[in-house]
Amino acid sequence: MDKTPFDIRALVERHRQDALPLLERYVNPSFAAVLRTIGFDINFVRGQGAYLWDDRGIRYIDCLGGYAVFNVGRNHPVVREALKQAMDLDLPNLLGLGAFRLSGLLAKELVAMAPGAGVVGGEPLDTVFFANSGGEAIDAALKHARAATGRCRVVYCDRAYHGLTMGSLSVCGNAEFREGFGPLLGDTTQIAFNDLPGLERELARGDVAAFIVEPIQGKGVHIPEAEYLREAQRLCHKHGALLIADEIQTGLGRTGRMFACEHYGLEPDIMVIAKALSGGYVPVSAVLTRRWIHEAVFSSMDKCSRIQTTFGQNDLAMAAGLATLHVLREETIVENAAVVGAYLMERLRAALAKYEMVKQVRGLGLMIAIEFQPPRLRSVGLRTGWELLHKMDQSLFCQAVLIPLLTEHRVLAQVAGHRQDVIKLIPPLVLSRENADEIVAALDATIGACHKFPGPVWEVGRKLGGAAIKRFGGKRGEVSAPPM
Ligand SMILES: Cc1ncc(COP(=O)(O)O)c(C=O)c1O
Repeated sequence: MDKTPFDIRALVERHRQDALPLLERYVNPSFAAVLRTIGFDINFVRGQGAYLWDDRGIRYIDCLGGYAVFNVGRNHPVVREALKQAMDLDLPNLLGLGAFRLSGLLAKELVAMAPGAGVVGGEPLDTVFFANSGGEAIDAALKHARAATGRCRVVYCDRAYHGLTMGSLSVCGNAEFREGFGPLLGDTTQIAFNDLPGLERELARGDVAAFIVEPIQGKGVHIPEAEYLREAQRLCHKHGALLIADEIQTGLGRTGRMFACEHYGLEPDIMVIAKALSGGYVPVSAVLTRRWIHEAVFSSMDKCSRIQTTFGQNDLAMAAGLATLHVLREETIVENAAVVGAYLMERLRAALAKYEMVKQVRGLGLMIAIEFQPPRLRSVGLRTGWELLHKMDQSLFCQAVLIPLLTEHRVLAQVAGHRQDVIKLIPPLVLSRENADEIVAALDATIGACHKFPGPVWEVGRKLGGAAIKRFGGKRGEVSAPPM
């Protein structure tokens, strides 16, 4: 009897309409319900660069970027070709006991581009530990810090997001992710972002292994005050603690520099990257450390693999990483993020200044937030709408803006964080000025529509809130797409 050949193309074609039903039935029914409720149940069938297409052939600008994964754009031909070549080489992948060639090469490149590399007399980040996801790499970074300092406590910031593994969740400043999963790691302390006296107070107790911080906070796109991070670094060193920079979202060009640390003259002791290193294809993360920290962890032959993961240096991930770094350099993508990001932010500020509910447009490179505020007291109608939506769900107002942005103006974006009236744009860094103009026009139109009460956007919000409350038994906070 003939064997059935495996044909992924045919499989995808056969199930062209099935993505949502499959999600609903086998993977995550609640998430499917959220997508349906918020009108994000679009059947996307193709992605390229900064664009997505649905099954009707309609083109969308992707300002969500797979939660900041697609810095080089979706399905970049150079990364794709590198992966095909790597497969055709029949490499001796995952040797286990053996030396991995591609991981050595990727580590060499990362070390050469890390903050502080090449500084005479400096103490560079010169060893790399590879893992598969951001959260897993954060866990590894915390272990490095504890082993290297012989101390336990980790200080982190409110609103911080470092992942959802048990370790990384323990240093997340977002209570909603913790609920029901405790107790988490002990010996962690939350302080306010930008609070230097608070940080020094904790460090002065002499038991802090590390202060972990995102140079720009992903949840809400919060930018540090001018001297905050440098001073935090100085305080860490004064008190014998390590500085861990989480560049998982900000790294690899997102903010218009290769690493956000560069904006602030920061040379962390440990730096974590992930997301975009994958080229949007193969999960990978990396923890860069100073050599003495590495040596404190892997301190003898019997301890040479005491932090490890089976797939940590797998060839396809390494090939994706190497190709991604090549593309970032050769195609001046980081520069594009700086130039187009500044242009987009300037145009957004100009276009949205007229709206009373727009509080601020902020960001760096192509990591941009639009924050909203309650309408003036004398705008009675708008005020009623605002209060109604916020009573139903904290993120409903933003979601009510995002739905017409997607369904009428074909721009995909996200709510930036729980309990924040903030929309976030983190598109692929290949975004063009023309794309930026389209995004500005789309946001101008949707935010403009919100400033008329009654109006279609408020109606969307009201229906959304009602549908969610019905579906989720009156519980609040479950209507928006989960912010990452
Ligand atoms: C700053 C930051 N750190 C850590 C993570 C966790 O990464 P992962 O989802 O790959 O575990 C994320 C994910 O959004 C992130 O933005």
